[in-house]
This record gives sequence, structure tokens and C-alpha cells, in this order.
Amino acid sequence: MAKTIGILTGGGDCPGLNAVIRAVVRSSDAAGWDCVGVREGWRGLVEGIFEDLGPQEVSGILPRGGTIVGTSRTNPFKLDRGVERLLQNFRDRGLDALVAIGGEDTLGVAARLYREHGLPVVGVPKTIDNDLSGTDYTFGFDTAVTIATEAIDRLHTTAESHNRVMVVEVMGRHAGWIAVMSGIAGGADVILIPEQPMTVEAACDELRRRHARGKSFSIVVVSEGYELTYESGESQLVGGEARPTDQFGHVTLGGVGEVLGREIEQRTGFETRVTVLGHVQRGGTPTARDRVLATRFGLKAAELAHEGRFGQMAALRGDDVVAVSLEEATAELKLVPPEWFEVAKAFFG
Ligand code: F6P
Repeated sequence: MAKTIGILTGGGDCPGLNAVIRAVVRSSDAAGWDCVGVREGWRGLVEGIFEDLGPQEVSGILPRGGTIVGTSRTNPFKLDRGVERLLQNFRDRGLDALVAIGGEDTLGVAARLYREHGLPVVGVPKTIDNDLSGTDYTFGFDTAVTIATEAIDRLHTTAESHNRVMVVEVMGRHAGWIAVMSGIAGGADVILIPEQPMTVEAACDELRRRHARGKSFSIVVVSEGYELTYESGESQLVGGEARPTDQFGHVTLGGVGEVLGREIEQRTGFETRVTVLGHVQRGGTPTARDRVLATRFGLKAAELAHEGRFGQMAALRGDDVVAVSLEEATAELKLVPPEWFEVAKAFFG
């Protein structure tokens, strides 16, 4: 009898998830394995919601954004008998292996299920935030950076026409990767990220310096997780304190751009407008680079599952797709190192 692989996508969606699903299904089919989609992340395993996935079902999904099997931020370790039900459904559906596609939370659960319960699981790293250790890049990131860069390009022309400061708020949670990369690519005049918290006063000085050089407009990119920091030593995380946490303890961020925009206008007198890119960064078709990376990750994950090399994750190291341990990949977040911020800073003001 053919062996069966379950495939689930957890956490925030990102462009390229369907490319992974397609690669796992196509290569498993070629190797004589069946595939089953687990609906909406870990929730599907806890509640036993599955759908058959064959070459027919994955035909045409390569360029599609989102995930055809749905996603959620369900944490089985936080649910009543969640893990017990999950393991029971895994057995009842006759699964032999699981490919979990997710970020730090989804893969953290996978690592724990492997460690504590011997679940035969392999991981695929996804997140627009690019904050997973163990892999040089996650798919979804390139698309998000491309979307943010295009937005910055567009904001440049209207900023220049109106002599305005344009503040662009991008996603990234605890990591400023999207802000730094899109800011460098788009020629931002100031970039504010959680890892290198420049003060509001210093940011305003950069803008004044630029305007003193004869420029009448500026672009400021701010990462949603940047804490407004002041010379007095005070700081403020916008959004987080007032909003509910998810099952992994994350607060919902967003809104720092508005507060920062007001501060800039009041302190410098430069007319300022704010754009929050939000979920636009996660929607739509993946870039070619993300499609290729996702496809390679999918093939690697299927190979690991077929060979019974569980507790591993597909990862990019240089140009190679390799296997790393899930434990290692989820131990800590990969944050923007100072040298990357220095590249961005060379163009401030
Ligand atoms: O982790 C990916 C991410 O897009 C973060 O950048 C962002 O903070 C969060 O998810 C948003 O989550 P939600 O889709 O639940 O609003």
C-alpha cells in the first residue's frame, strides 16, 4: 500500500506556499506516495480535517498567492487535549509523514512534536519576515520586499511633487529585514527598525540635514516592530500593548507609522503623510525567485520525508538547499545584524 504524506501550512500566509505544496505533491506522486492536505495548519490535525491532494489538485497553483489548504495560528499545545487529538487524527488518517510549512511558531510546534512525541515531521521555512535561523532566506520575503520597493518608488514621485515627507510602514514583527532591504532598494532617507532603534530626534535631524542640502522631500521606512525611542530614554511600542495576543503570545502590531508621521511633522515642520502597506505585502503572486526557492524547498522536504529523515528542515545555505535540524532552526530568531544597517545608513539624510 502507498505511504501517505500530510501537508500543512501554518501562521501568516505568504507568496510561494502553493509552489511548495505543488512540489511535494508532484515529487511524492512520482515516488509512489499519496498526499493529503491538512486544512488550516495545526487546527486541521487537531480536528481531523483533511483533503486529498494529487497532481490534479495542484495543477495551476504555482503562481497563486495564499495557500490552497488554508492556514491558522492554532497552537495545539494551548488547546485542551490538543496534542493527544492531533496524534490520534494523524494515526487515524493513516499518515506516515508530515510536511509542516511555516515560520517560527509552526515549526516550533513541529520541533516539539518531534522531540516529545516522535511525530515523523519535516519542515519548510516560510515567512515574509525572513527571521528564521538556519536558512539564509525564507520564501515570501523576496515578494514582500519587491512589493514594498515598488510602493517606495511610487511614493517618491508624489513626495517630490508635493514637497512632503512620506512615512512607509512595513511588516516584519521583531525583525527589520523587509524595512532594511526595501529601504536600501528604494533609496530611503531614514530607516527605522527594531534591532537598531534610532531615536526620533536623530531621524528628524537626518531629514533636516537632507532638506538643508536642497532636497524638499524625503522617504522614511519604518518597521511595524520599531519602538519609538527618544533621547530621554523613553520608548513606546505602538499597537502591541492594547491588542490581543494570538495562541503563540504575539501582539498585533501596526500603527507606528501614524505616530511617527505626527512626530516628524510637529518637530520639523515638514508636511508628512503616512502609508501602511500591511497585508498587501503578503498577498498575490510570488516573484520568480520565491517560486524557485519554494519549489526547491518542497522537493527537499519531500525527499527528507521519503527517506525518513524526520526532525529536519529544508534550508538555503548559499546557493544550496540543505537539511538542518528543526531544533536548530527554531532556537532563536534571525535579526538584522549591524553591518546590514550600516549599508542602509550610508544613504541617510
Ligand atoms: O509573520 C508574518 C506577519 O505578516 C508579520 O510580519 C505581521 O506582524 C503578522 O504576520 C501579521 O499577522 P496577521 O496576519 O495575523 O495580522
